[in-house]
Amino acid sequence: MSNRERPDLNRRIKELQEAPARWWAGEAEVVRVYFSRSRTKQDDIRWLTLQAARELGTASRQLGEAPEMFEGIDASVDRHEFEAAIRSIYEEVRHYRLLADIIEQLTGQRVNPKQLLPYAGTGKERVGHPELPAMTEEIAVAKRLREQYGELAETALSFFEGGGAAIFYSGSRVLEYPYVSYSGGEIERKIAAAMKVIFEDEMRHGPVHIPRAAERIRSDQDFLQAKKIIEEKAKAHLRLRNETFGYPLTERRMGEIDAGIGIEPLPVDYLGVSPVSPYSA
Ligand SMILES: [Fe+2]
Ligand SMILES: [Fe+2]
Repeated sequence: MSNRERPDLNRRIKELQEAPARWWAGEAEVVRVYFSRSRTKQDDIRWLTLQAARELGTASRQLGEAPEMFEGIDASVDRHEFEAAIRSIYEEVRHYRLLADIIEQLTGQRVNPKQLLPYAGTGKERVGHPELPAMTEEIAVAKRLREQYGELAETALSFFEGGGAAIFYSGSRVLEYPYVSYSGGEIERKIAAAMKVIFEDEMRHGPVHIPRAAERIRSDQDFLQAKKIIEEKAKAHLRLRNETFGYPLTERRMGEIDAGIGIEPLPVDYLGVSPVSPYSA
């Protein structure tokens, strides 16, 4: 790319990063508000289980895709890309392990992966669940966007995995926010430690791809459309997160976030992300 074109690319990278910013900050708010209120062990078991299910579903989907990628290594699949895909599987399994360990500590019982998977929504077939209407809707929105906009939707959403790592951002900071504890802070310490690892990993699954996405979108018209695609996905994803945590935010508050009222972008450097998580290096 010539220098003459660079300023435009840099502007697009910045704009792509800004497109979902209010909703990602909203996701972080979901978690902050959740921990600021009195909650029970059952409440924690519920969200941890739902999130562990998502991690397991992602690992399962990526494991299923890996053999075909391997067949194409250095032909249709770049070896660096393949290595990143395999690393991602490892990391998703790690996320599942981190959360499942906390669940088992809370319940005193083994986690049953077969019972978890129907709640994932992230497996090979992205199917919803009757108990999770916001997750079901989020899957429908993503499907519709992909059907309607094809390749452009793929590109626009290529950096969305993990929702800007926003729930993990504030989850890793639970001890720094006002929180109410049933465990004298013990569970919060464990949750914060797990979320810190997941945050670093997820920055490499989602936001690290922002510059590449910006590069792939060519025309101004496509760029405008891409931002709309991201916004629609981000709105639905915020509602999914709110559902996972038992609705800490009201409909009204989510409406304010949609409108950009009383919400600041997270102080996260989404553009200076190194390629490999410090926990996997
Ligand atoms: Fe994950
Ligand atoms: Fe991920």
